[in-house]
Amino acid sequence: MMNGKPGNGSDAFKSITANEVEVLIDGKKVVAAEGELLVEAILREKEIPHICYHSPLMGPIQTCDTCMVEVDGKLVRSCGTKVSAEMVVVTESKRAKDARSEAFDVILGNHMLYCTVCDNNNENCRVHNTALDLNVQHQVHPFKPKPYEVDMSNPFYRYDPSQCILCGQCVQACQTVQVNETLSIGWELEHPRVLWDGGMQIGGSSCVSCGHCITVCPCNALMEKSMLGEAGFMSSMPITALNKMIDVVKAIEPEMGYGAIMQVSQTEAKMREERIKQTKTVCTYCGVGCSYDVWTKERKILKIEPLHGDTNQISTCVKGKFGWDYVNHKDRLQTPLIRQGDGFREASWEEALTLVTSRLGAIKQQYGPDSLAVIVSSKCTNEDGYLMQKFGRAVLGTNNIDNCSRYCQSPATMGLFRTVGYGGDSGSIENIAKSGLVLIVGSQTAESHPVLATRVKRAHKLFGQRLIVADPRKHEMARRADIHFRPRPGTDLVWISAMSRYMLDNGYAKQEFLDKWVNGLDEYRKSLEPFTLEYAAKTCDVPLETLERVAQELAAARSIAILWAMGITQHTRASDGSTAISNLLLITGNYMRDEGGAYPLRGHNNVQGAGDLGGAPDYYPGYQRVTDPGIRKKFEDGWGVALPPARGMDNHEMVDAAHEGKLRAMYLAGEDMIQADSNANHVGGAFEKLDFFVVQDIFFSETCRYADVILPGCPALEKDGTFSSTERRIQRLYKALPELGDSRADWRITQDIANRMGAKWNYQHPSEIMAEMASLTPLYAGVSYERLEGYKTLQWPVAEDGTDQPVLYLDRFPFPDGKARLYPMSFHEPEEALDSDFDLFLNNGRILEHFHEGNMTYRVAGIKEETPERYLEISEDLATERGIESGRWVRVTSRHGSLVIKVLVTSHVFGKQVYLPLLSQEGPVNILTGSHADEATNTPAFKETAVRIKILPEQGTNPLHPLNPRFSGKPTPQTGVEVERKWKRSDYHMPGTESLVQIHTSK
Ligand code: SF4
Ligand code: SF4
Ligand code: SF4
Ligand code: FES
Repeated sequence: MMNGKPGNGSDAFKSITANEVEVLIDGKKVVAAEGELLVEAILREKEIPHICYHSPLMGPIQTCDTCMVEVDGKLVRSCGTKVSAEMVVVTESKRAKDARSEAFDVILGNHMLYCTVCDNNNENCRVHNTALDLNVQHQVHPFKPKPYEVDMSNPFYRYDPSQCILCGQCVQACQTVQVNETLSIGWELEHPRVLWDGGMQIGGSSCVSCGHCITVCPCNALMEKSMLGEAGFMSSMPITALNKMIDVVKAIEPEMGYGAIMQVSQTEAKMREERIKQTKTVCTYCGVGCSYDVWTKERKILKIEPLHGDTNQISTCVKGKFGWDYVNHKDRLQTPLIRQGDGFREASWEEALTLVTSRLGAIKQQYGPDSLAVIVSSKCTNEDGYLMQKFGRAVLGTNNIDNCSRYCQSPATMGLFRTVGYGGDSGSIENIAKSGLVLIVGSQTAESHPVLATRVKRAHKLFGQRLIVADPRKHEMARRADIHFRPRPGTDLVWISAMSRYMLDNGYAKQEFLDKWVNGLDEYRKSLEPFTLEYAAKTCDVPLETLERVAQELAAARSIAILWAMGITQHTRASDGSTAISNLLLITGNYMRDEGGAYPLRGHNNVQGAGDLGGAPDYYPGYQRVTDPGIRKKFEDGWGVALPPARGMDNHEMVDAAHEGKLRAMYLAGEDMIQADSNANHVGGAFEKLDFFVVQDIFFSETCRYADVILPGCPALEKDGTFSSTERRIQRLYKALPELGDSRADWRITQDIANRMGAKWNYQHPSEIMAEMASLTPLYAGVSYERLEGYKTLQWPVAEDGTDQPVLYLDRFPFPDGKARLYPMSFHEPEEALDSDFDLFLNNGRILEHFHEGNMTYRVAGIKEETPERYLEISEDLATERGIESGRWVRVTSRHGSLVIKVLVTSHVFGKQVYLPLLSQEGPVNILTGSHADEATNTPAFKETAVRIKILPEQGTNPLHPLNPRFSGKPTPQTGVEVERKWKRSDYHMPGTESLVQIHTSK
């Protein structure tokens, strides 16, 4: 257990103080923060080599010795030395320079400089650049290849031990940033190397292919396979020819020195600028909002490089780093399709748009505007979505508009609206990391929001953060937690409310905060009467002692951040569960501060944006009510049309209305409702009844089967725009690739349809759409493309002068009196209960590698290879009771449907609970789930389904692929690189401590 113990990493990260001190660097007085790493202070003044030092996030690693300087007359590593007052630092003495040169010479003994034919020769290789900076001509330590094979066993990247300089940055990233704890260095081996799980091959180890290690590797030892043979002009040559080239380099070096060779490689690297394009984009999978550069060569995606994102810095997960094959997949829709009998035929845009507009127009005329509906995509940009809702309201004349947050996030938004006023995270991911205690309820954060999870894992591992997880499943965060408990599904609001009562009863409530900022305490307190810990223990099926421990932890915590997701929001009391969470945060005073707070984790990349931009039946952009006459007038003036005054239908109501014949046509973008809604059969039946159905997507989804016209939209890499992430962070993405085939950016398609129906829109670029949205939306008032240029971001609300608000509530809550509101609680049992016929509880959710149903990720070869099929997780107890093993086929039947699937026996689920990942090439999970929904928002109660299993005769293979990290991975936790073990080696000496090796540099 390393939680809280200072180590190679944690101690160094922690000791910066706010004090500024003066130090002398090469005779110049410099101001620095006391306790910061000296290398940082030096690098603000001048360049010095620092191969193994990456950033404050990664901390000092101290393996390379290339940053040696003299401090108060003593040779030290500047990355391993903290600034203190009046330090005298000399970087330019011969002694310091010789030490740095010697250290680099040792590195060259581990790394062959074949830059001209290396795919990493892209002007950012730190070994290459340091060789140039030091003007290295000849090396003293000869290059010695290590006696290990290149490891190609991971689908996405490779490790070449012979090129590995043993800097340990990959280990540091894996152990302290990603905290997957796969990597270490075998310092005691005769030939040290990086080890996966202590010595496995990469494929099949615990490596989750997040890519952190590759991103920080300073050379070509770790590389994306997609770069190999592609980045360089000559790197694709056969290995025999390549080896001959390398031999030539070796032969030239003694006579000519590296200078001439480096000139050639520099020229070759420069030439690459012409053909490799680097474009900033934002991840198109989950709501965390990682941003990065995508490297492309024509349409080929060479790699993803995260470095500068405010959210993620060097972090990605497997989907963001490697999940891009789908963009060029042969299944992409590239031309409009029109239904012909039971199939579809290709059509021109002219024909398709003419049909769409004439049919929508005719239906509107015959049945009225409210016979039409629009579904906005939470995968598309804010600008795409803004235009779609504007089209629905201003052109079709209906508020029948919704987006997929109805399936997951609406209850969280409702809980926050009721209590604190805005439907968004109350702080940033950074504020979560700072919190004293993180409570995760109903969220498999490491699977569904992986990069956000890394920040919690890191704070817990290195900085003593406490972690409590309430979840039926023992997922990674649960395994790491200080307390994990498993409330009976659907009862979370009971134990959460009991915690509030405990705080009030025992004097732990933040009375001062409540007095000043919160209304409704008396009524709320009265409603808590039944919610004792004893009642909660009984109702939630959790031992009383566990709840007492949780209560004591919460009472003792400096600050509490609560993270929740679909384990709360997909129940019949989902809005109340979310409300209970926000109540508890108010009682404990965890709003209005820069740690702690409410974090409803948004699922899709732009589901926050889809709500922000008005993709809802009751709100214009910025959560401005359609029923408020003053607001409506503002939009009528802005858009120049009369707007419908009444709330429209949400997508749950749309489905019912289609069944009833009230809804006649729909225009849906980027949403596979058949797979995403709660009851596939019911939704399919509704679509069949529509007179006309337009679907805009990038692939032929299940939902497309019901369409009359299918319009080919574009994925994020093919358009400009913005996304808004879970932390309310608005970020720009830039067009990296041209539209494939005849596909078009979604906003262009909507504009074309609108104009053919009489609108006179003339948007030339998404920036104009954002400017309009900002002018009508106080939360986005100061948002502009200029203010979001490159990696700049803004977190709403954004004032007109561009000031944003990483902490959402600073000096008031957005209610008329500026005060938050406690909301009284009550409880009744979940709708679906177990009985003798349906004796198992079905849970479901995402898994790390696939995004939801897998429309994109199943089209990524490496992900498909590692995780080719779905399975039903069952507990070891259940497997023993029924006499089955992993791979056995079973029929799972609920009160609503049934499907056939293989089982996986696992310790992640318990007793009579089973778990079905959402990814589904084989048929969606919502074949099993019913139509019951959250009472306040109509969000389907996906997580309240009783099932039974029937064992089928066929025994198949284990559904987990041996390459999958869950198959046999065994992580090796360390606090970091453990460089002390290197320093103990008999063949190591610190440069400058023995007679220096003089390596040759040119004058
Ligand atoms: S989990 Fe794998 S890809 Fe991620 S940092 Fe660790 S070794 Fe690298
Ligand atoms: S593989 Fe790891 S230790 Fe080797 S050079 Fe790359 S980052 Fe450094
Ligand atoms: S954590 Fe989410 S946003 Fe970040 S790379 Fe992964 S899928 Fe993309
Ligand atoms: S940068 Fe300081 S030891 Fe490597």
